[in-house]
Amino acid sequence: MDAFVWFTHQPASASWLKRELADKRPDLRFAFSRPGLTTFKAARTGVDGASSFARAHGHSLGRAASVDDVLALAAAVPAGAVLHVFERDPDRPADERDQAIAGTRAAALDTALRAAAPGRFGEGVEARAGEHVLDVIVAPAEHEDDGIFVGWHRHDASHGPFPGGVPHVAIPPGAPSRAWAKIEEAIRWSGLVPRAGERAIELGSAPGGASFALLERGLDVHGVDPGAMDPRVLGYVGAGGNRFTHHAVPAAKVARKDLPRTFEWLVSDVNLAPMVALKYVERFVALAHGGLRGAFITLKLNDDGVFEALPRLALRIGKLGATRVRYTQLPSHRSEIVAILER
Ligand SMILES: C[S@@+](CC[C@H](N)C(=O)[O-])C[C@H]1O[C@@H](n2cnc3c(N)ncnc32)[C@H](O)[C@@H]1O
Repeated sequence: MDAFVWFTHQPASASWLKRELADKRPDLRFAFSRPGLTTFKAARTGVDGASSFARAHGHSLGRAASVDDVLALAAAVPAGAVLHVFERDPDRPADERDQAIAGTRAAALDTALRAAAPGRFGEGVEARAGEHVLDVIVAPAEHEDDGIFVGWHRHDASHGPFPGGVPHVAIPPGAPSRAWAKIEEAIRWSGLVPRAGERAIELGSAPGGASFALLERGLDVHGVDPGAMDPRVLGYVGAGGNRFTHHAVPAAKVARKDLPRTFEWLVSDVNLAPMVALKYVERFVALAHGGLRGAFITLKLNDDGVFEALPRLALRIGKLGATRVRYTQLPSHRSEIVAILER
C-alpha cells in the first residue's frame, strides 16, 4: 500500500531536500508542498535520516480545516498520544522573527484541540521513545492562514522530541552571539545533553555564544579561535568553578600540551569550507583519546558545490568512530546544517 510522508524544513532548503531525497529514496514521488513543508508518496514507509535538511518528518494523515477535522484524523493515533502543534518555518531566520507573534497560531490551535478533546492527548509535549505523536502543522503566525496539515510519527532518535523537532530557543540578552541558540537547539533536538563538570572544546569559538551556553551548563570550555572572545566568556566563573580557556590561534596551531588530556564534547563552528573544517575535527577527535561523548559539527553550505559534496563529507564523518550520526537544519541555522555525533 502506498504511504504518504512529510518533512518540515527551512523554506530555502526545499530544493536541496528534494535533491537529497531523490538520491537516497528514489521511491519517493513528490506529492504537494507549502513553504517549509514537503510531502511525498512513498512505496515503502520509514524515512529516518533521509534528509540532512529535515527537522521533523512523519507519515501524512491529510489536510484539515477545523478542530473537528483534526480530531477525526487523529483516530490514527492511540489515546494519550503526544500532541505536537507547530508552525512551519517562515522565510526568515528564526531569530529574526517577531517573538511576540511567532508561535501564536500554533498555541491557539493547541489550546483549542485540547479543550475539544479533554484527556485525548498526553499532557506534556516532550515525546519519549516509542510514543505516538500527532503532528499538526500550520503556517507561521505572521503569514496568512493556509489550513492545517496533519501527520503522525512514532518517537525515536531520528526525531527531535519537541513540536517540529525543536522550536527556536530565544537568545537571552546576555548571550554574546546567535550561536548560543544554535548549540541550545542542537542539544534539545538531539537529546544529547552535556553535564556539569564535563569538558568541551569549541573550534571557531569567537565571539562566544556557544561557549557561553556550555559554560552556563556547567562545563569547562576550551575555545580555539584567533578572533576575540567576548569579555563575558573570558571572565566567566560558574557556580561549580567552571571556566573558559582561550587558545587564540587557528585550529591547526593548538599544541597538544595546552589541551586537557581528554574531553567529552567537541563543537565545531569554524567558517571554513566543510572539507577543511573536517580535517580539524578529525584531529581533535583523535586528541580526545576516546573520551568523547558527542560532537556538534556545523557544516557551512555556501554553495551547490558543498551540497554535492555532502555524501563524501558524510563518509568522512562516518569514520570518526561515532555510534550514531544525525543531521538536521535547525531553526537558527543560516546556510548551514549540523552533524551530531554520539559515541
Ligand atoms: C560563525 S563564527 C563562530 C561563532 C561562535 N561559535 C560563537 O559561538 O560565537 C566562525 C569563527 O570561525 C573562526 N575560524 C575560522 N578559521 C578558523 C581556524 N582555522 N581555526 C579556528 N577558528 C577559525 C573565525 O575566526 C570565526 O570567529
